[in-house]
Amino acid sequence: MKDHFKEKSQTWDEEQIRVMGAKKIANAITEKIDIHPTMEIMDFGVGTGLLGFEIAKIAKKVYGVDTSKSMIEKLKEKNNAELHIETFCQDIIQEPLNKTFDGVISSMTLHHIENLKDFFETIHTNIAENGFLAIADLELEDGTFHSDNTGVFHFGFDTKELCEVVLACGFKNVQCTNIDTINKPERDFGIFLLSARK
Ligand SMILES: C[S@@+](CC[C@H](N)C(=O)[O-])C[C@H]1O[C@@H](n2cnc3c(N)ncnc32)[C@H](O)[C@@H]1O
Repeated sequence: MKDHFKEKSQTWDEEQIRVMGAKKIANAITEKIDIHPTMEIMDFGVGTGLLGFEIAKIAKKVYGVDTSKSMIEKLKEKNNAELHIETFCQDIIQEPLNKTFDGVISSMTLHHIENLKDFFETIHTNIAENGFLAIADLELEDGTFHSDNTGVFHFGFDTKELCEVVLACGFKNVQCTNIDTINKPERDFGIFLLSARK
């Protein structure tokens, strides 16, 4: 599989807008969901760990899943004895993980996933009974958020339609709320947080 993030990974953490955005997502998640120090959590599309390391500070353990070897290499450079994310570099839809988590978090990755039904059905099997889902991504946009749309399967999401897909895949208490706005010179882009329970 081609690593679309090979070059981007080298400077990913240098953009303050990304670092701050991930912190805002982490805050929105912890406001919505009570993360316990006993919890084992999957960060889907963990990248360099901008969201995952924030949650790792308050959970028992964060496991990062990503298909990009280069993003995971950058994450591993940040692992240390106090704060550590265990990684899986694989497509878990094609090659499922035989493990359950107390919850799944994700930031800005869902728009890279072609088949949403396959994705939500897969992670449903990876979440413990009454476990949670907390996914942040772009609200519907016009295709101008990325300068290059290679590997982008959705120009954001109609949150009402997305909630219906998630409900149909067996989740309950499905909600979407706007949590942030990214200001770019041409226009603003809304960010939502989808939360749900198994
Ligand atoms: C926009 S980046 C976000 C990274 C990180 N969550 C953050 O907020 O900085 C999207 C990430 O999703 C990963 N990704 C894309 N498709 C994936 C898939 N099918 N399974 C797992 N990760 C995927 C990419 O490699 C990339 O690291």
